[in-house]
Amino acid sequence: MAVAEARAPRTAPDGSPYPDRSQPTFERDVRRMFGFFARRYERFNHVATLGNDVLWRFRALGQLDRFRRRPIERALDLGCGTGELARAVVRRYPAARVIATDFTREMVAIGREGGGPPPEFGRADAQRLPFASGSFDLVTNAFVARNLHDLPRAFAEWRRVLRPGGVALTLEISEPPRPAVARFFHAYFDRVVPLVGRSFGSEGPSRYLPESLRGFPGRGRVLALLAEAGFTRAEAPIQSGGVVTTFLAEAGPPPARSR
Ligand SMILES: C[S@@+](CC[C@H](N)C(=O)[O-])C[C@H]1O[C@@H](n2cnc3c(N)ncnc32)[C@H](O)[C@@H]1O
Repeated sequence: MAVAEARAPRTAPDGSPYPDRSQPTFERDVRRMFGFFARRYERFNHVATLGNDVLWRFRALGQLDRFRRRPIERALDLGCGTGELARAVVRRYPAARVIATDFTREMVAIGREGGGPPPEFGRADAQRLPFASGSFDLVTNAFVARNLHDLPRAFAEWRRVLRPGGVALTLEISEPPRPAVARFFHAYFDRVVPLVGRSFGSEGPSRYLPESLRGFPGRGRVLALLAEAGFTRAEAPIQSGGVVTTFLAEAGPPPARSR
């Protein structure tokens, strides 16, 4: 039996899943965590961010509109969770075809139940996309990138499925650049948010949250990885003092070998 299969998943003291990035089972355990947490996820997120997550998604689409140079006819949301960003994309571009995907079955099921304008839902791993090259004008993801095992591979996949001139939008929690804001942010994110998680019966997911940010590269490194993946123009505007960053990257032409 492979070592990855034999290893018991890490759990928090309350028995909830607690993924460990250093383990070969990391991706499986991330999926298990979001499956366990799916029914509580949206409410937890609204409470933990004091409702700001809704505002951040909305503003990110405004930043996208200032950045993009081509119309949005087909959009793909990755790690869609319950579908909040995908629905915001449908509202903003009502004529576009929007596909929302996640690799956690429970999240996709809840997304399909949800109200509001419906995107099409399906299952997909954000690092191995089951879509043809050059099939989208926009690839979005909110609060997903921190959970990815292989960010360079994911970026290369996003560029592959984008048409040249299409845009990848990655909204993610980030390290605030100003020390005073960073101190306040860490006091809240590292200490208060895990307590909120415990009150939701989900100690593992909320312990994992600050760890996942520590494993995520800084803005400059993310921009460098996007360039290496074939994005030819990129920006990283911040929101709320840098507590979140919207990475916007325009896809260049496909590499010569895949033409
Ligand atoms: C923090 S939630 C964000 C959900 C949603 N995007 C939002 O704005 O609320 C992260 C989501 O990413 C999904 N996810 C994590 N890694 C993934 C991967 N490799 N492929 C697809 N989905 C992934 C999880 O299942 C989860 O639903």
